[in-house]
Amino acid sequence: MAQNDPLAPSGRFAVVQSGAAQTPPMGWNPWNAFHADVDEAKVRAVAKAMVDSGLAARGYRFVNIDDGWALRRLADGRLQIRSNTFPSSHVEGSATGSFKPFTDALHALGLKAGIYTDIGRNTCMQRWDAGVPNLPVGSVAERQVGSFGYAVTDMRTIFADWRFDYIKVDACGVADYTPADPPVTSGAYNAFPPLIVRGNIPASDPKAIEGLYAALGDAVRRWGGETATLSICAWGEALSVLWGPRRGNLYRTSPDIESNWKSMLANIDSVVDGALYAGPGHWNDPDMLEIGHGDFDAAHPTEARSHFTMWTIMAAPLLLGYDLRHPDPALHAIVSNPEVIAIDQDAAGNQGIGYRDGDAMVVVRTLAAAGTRAVAFLNRGAVPVEARVSWRQLGFAPGSHARVRDVWARRDDAAASDLIRVTLPAHGSALLRVTGTPADPGAVPLDAMPARIHVAVDGLSRANALPMGRFPARVGATPDGAPLIAGGQPVGGIGVFANSRLEVHADRAFSRLVATPRVLGGTGPVRFQVYADRRLVQEVSAAPGKAASIVADIRFASVVELVTRQPSNGGRPPMVAWSAARMVR
Ligand code: GAL
Repeated sequence: MAQNDPLAPSGRFAVVQSGAAQTPPMGWNPWNAFHADVDEAKVRAVAKAMVDSGLAARGYRFVNIDDGWALRRLADGRLQIRSNTFPSSHVEGSATGSFKPFTDALHALGLKAGIYTDIGRNTCMQRWDAGVPNLPVGSVAERQVGSFGYAVTDMRTIFADWRFDYIKVDACGVADYTPADPPVTSGAYNAFPPLIVRGNIPASDPKAIEGLYAALGDAVRRWGGETATLSICAWGEALSVLWGPRRGNLYRTSPDIESNWKSMLANIDSVVDGALYAGPGHWNDPDMLEIGHGDFDAAHPTEARSHFTMWTIMAAPLLLGYDLRHPDPALHAIVSNPEVIAIDQDAAGNQGIGYRDGDAMVVVRTLAAAGTRAVAFLNRGAVPVEARVSWRQLGFAPGSHARVRDVWARRDDAAASDLIRVTLPAHGSALLRVTGTPADPGAVPLDAMPARIHVAVDGLSRANALPMGRFPARVGATPDGAPLIAGGQPVGGIGVFANSRLEVHADRAFSRLVATPRVLGGTGPVRFQVYADRRLVQEVSAAPGKAASIVADIRFASVVELVTRQPSNGGRPPMVAWSAARMVR
């Protein structure tokens, strides 16, 4: 095996494993409520309301500040806080000021504190919100408050001195300051040759931007310790969702959410097929909640509940964005529902697997408790629909009975068998907890353990990458979205491209890996290899359109790797499937 062979087994489960964000972060961020018009009084009042209302006790712990806190970068490279809006930061004789009194106050409430920067030299609001309050001031150099070139010193200040627990790192600085952009041509900002060209992966530089976030992430953990949380805000651009699991604790999958139904659906679609890219410590982030605003305000409880249902089934971070100083009982009841929150925070960390049937959407999430699934149903449209989930989608034995709990109603329903149907009003949703008998009690299908799978290599280059929002490795489907079928029946498994390497965190819990891998296109054969802790334990070859059979001994393996190989001609490799793959106990 060549030394620089990207398909060589690593023997590692190479997602971020610092200990941070073992469940999706929960908290509050001012951006959706106040945008740039943020100040300390508002944030501290919200923090107090979060505690007094009982939301903190339900798990909402992070109070984050977003864009708008930095006044300037001083000549010595340090950042100066805007002390007129954050008065407690004023320290007699200090040019920079300090956020330590602010974070001390949040910590004293039992909360955690988050802050914001940009991976480039300038932030998003500097580019997109000219004229808003709280823009940085001074010369072009002084207004470069982003962390480019200052990752280590900024993270030391933010985590070691100011004691933050969490940082969101935006990316406009490496995307929106090209030599042709108006604020650059006018001389207001320096140009930054773009590493992200929005909507254009081949013209972007995913490697360079991943490198910047990797270095910044190292500094976050160095100065902030094992539980410091890094939120990557590159909106799913430049393949950030694909490398995010190795670099950040959460990574945005889409443009900014807006407070309307269509935007929420788009953000669901940006993430719902991405279960293989999420798990403890590394979460897909379809953006903060818009509950409390627009289509999700107190007058729209159906939509607000649907928004929350979908974020919890997708194991999304739950960052509230409304003004908690003015609480609303109906919204509070939604976002504080303990059984719904428990699904989001389930310890197994599996993101749900989505299915669509017209406007009806079903998402199935395997929970940690034995034989237990959470099922979300969503009506995307404006007329009532019936939605259903089958025992096959749930992985239950045909004919077996399952217990059903309606999570929103907090009610146990009649036992069900083979199929559950629900009727949903316009924009309505339902959330069930279903406990049944797994089809194969001695094994776990890979479909039911996406949190324990990391797509280390997906076989694609940036030149032939799938467009944003499409995932090159999927549970139960090909990268094109067609269900994995054998003998006319859906069989589950993982669909991916050849020349890929998947790391499975087996953790010594399994004895065999069983699968019937298939080659779904192309002209030549593909080799399928199974490694157990870097030792090749089985290798088979299959021709296009054909299946092979694998029964691999993986006893005592911590990490199992599934590698597919075909000599490359530089184009996009054929799709392959680890069909019906399961780990036998
Ligand atoms: C955007 C980001 C928003 C908010 C804003 C601040 O790029 O997606 O969530 O942080 O910048 O300017």
